[in-house]
Amino acid sequence: MIRKLLIAAILLPAVWFGTAAIHFPPIFQKMFIAYVLLGLTVFLLLDAPPFPTLAGWKALAVLIGFYAVISTVYIGGASFLLPQYDPTVEMGKIEKILKSKLETPEARRAKLEEMIKKSEELQAKTGILLAGLEKLAPSAPTGGGQTVSAGSGDIIARGMEVYELHECYNCHKIGGKGSVKKRGPILDNIGNLLTQEDFKKKIFDPTYLYAEGFEKEHKKKQMPDKYKELMSDEEVTALAAYLATLKNPAIETPKPIFVKSKVDHGFIVYGYVRDKAGKPIPDLPVLAKPLKEGRESHEGKTNKEGYYEIFLHIHNEDSGTKIVVSAKDAKKEITAIYNPEDKVTKRQAAVDLAL
Ligand code: HEC
Repeated sequence: MIRKLLIAAILLPAVWFGTAAIHFPPIFQKMFIAYVLLGLTVFLLLDAPPFPTLAGWKALAVLIGFYAVISTVYIGGASFLLPQYDPTVEMGKIEKILKSKLETPEARRAKLEEMIKKSEELQAKTGILLAGLEKLAPSAPTGGGQTVSAGSGDIIARGMEVYELHECYNCHKIGGKGSVKKRGPILDNIGNLLTQEDFKKKIFDPTYLYAEGFEKEHKKKQMPDKYKELMSDEEVTALAAYLATLKNPAIETPKPIFVKSKVDHGFIVYGYVRDKAGKPIPDLPVLAKPLKEGRESHEGKTNKEGYYEIFLHIHNEDSGTKIVVSAKDAKKEITAIYNPEDKVTKRQAAVDLAL
């Protein structure tokens, strides 16, 4: 018995500190400890003197009593000691994600337009209020010019919701909340480092840029590459608007580094294809053709939102090359202009087409 207690005395701290060292959450640590204690109990029981043999009613009563005790311990332990998840909360989340998938693009567009309208109305109201204020107490020349972007709160609240729904917090931390382990970068000051356009690109194509110090994670493609399929345009727009508000320089946020090979050797054309009524056209092949010998054309396809993105292999010396973007019988020509010395700014152009 002393030998068994001794083994347990060594095992307990080893398991506790060992699991802490490889970042198990405390609840798991406690569970492992519970397993060690359970094992110890079993081994000690093996040495215990045998029960007197029971028969008849007595045996049945002891058996039922044993089950009752074990069931109470299991059910009680699970209900009171382990964290509880409310299935209605989880179901609500799933419903919210699905809802925007089930809505038609028109309904989503209407919603977005309504949000923008509301935001404009509020902005107008703020304007009136500010004018009134100005009359009452004329401000110093520097103070009056600042516009208050009231009403944008709606879209930002929506963006926050998208962040929650798609569980970015599993890997990222904002305001001290989120990923316990250092899975992905802290985002508290990311609004000062990236534009809304950058956010959309990074979310839809995680290879677009990486956070400094996260080279290994980036190579392993740890940030999921699935949001392009999962998120609607309305969602990613709101999410980008929300991320752009994260401007807390007090909290060190890893610097984004644009993937050079992409900048150096390529040019991205992206945009939307819509019909005359403004309805997005999905699953439509779009062709981008550089008008320079030896530079290949590439084809892309619009997604459900009518969005496409095409990466062209155009090199440093190709600045000034004309590119024809076409889909069905719509066509547009642009000129790819960039500074060949600049290896950081992304080389890209937005080309929307109407059929
Ligand atoms: C499974 C983990 C994981 C999830 C989930 C995840 N990310 Fe990331 N994210 C990472 C990692 C790792 C990096 C750093 C490496 C890289 O940039 O590829 C990163 C980088 C970023 C960056 C660049 C940060 C910087 O400092 O440059 C942004 C912005 C970002 N993620 C936003 C999001 C958003 C928004 C979501 C939710 C839609 C999300 N991430 C979901 C793992 C994740």
